[in-house]
Amino acid sequence: MTSNHPVTELMNDHRLIEKVMSALEAKLRSVGDSDFPVDFIEQALDFFTEFADGCHHFKEEEALFPALAECGFAVEGGPIGMMLYEHTIGRKCLAGIRANLPAARAGIPEARAALRSFAAQYIDLLQNHIWKEDNVLFRMAQQALDPQSAVALLNRFHDEHNPRTATPLVERYQSFAVALGEP
Ligand SMILES: [Fe+2]
Ligand SMILES: [Fe+2]
Repeated sequence: MTSNHPVTELMNDHRLIEKVMSALEAKLRSVGDSDFPVDFIEQALDFFTEFADGCHHFKEEEALFPALAECGFAVEGGPIGMMLYEHTIGRKCLAGIRANLPAARAGIPEARAALRSFAAQYIDLLQNHIWKEDNVLFRMAQQALDPQSAVALLNRFHDEHNPRTATPLVERYQSFAVALGEP
């Protein structure tokens, strides 16, 4: 899934992240303790860790945000500072899911409840985060980036030597999300 503008590509990533969040939310809502979806949670955690955080947040933190800083956007405070802060909160939620997964798999009720809580926090955070990026920061970015900067960003996004952006990894997670169907 490629695009000719870096902001469009980041928005496409958001649609995939939303698919996995919707699937996780639906599974957690519809199942009880007897069929707790621990295997799917593990797959979703892998997607959020490697694609949402590893690849997508890399593109934002190491490529888009520095490019916007060069355009005069403040890094401390303002929308970029808020987005960076929310990425760190998201990582804490993922760490909470990860820490509770073994005990949840073993059927410990407290671990399953904690895992549900961390997952709900993560989904709520990311839904709001994505809305703010799509509707505020990315619109500003589309105005601010000149064509040369946009091409440079796309090249950073598709660096085959970077394990976070290499095509086989990206395609594997895109396929996982697409196979889940419509949110
Ligand atoms: Fe972000
Ligand atoms: Fe994003």
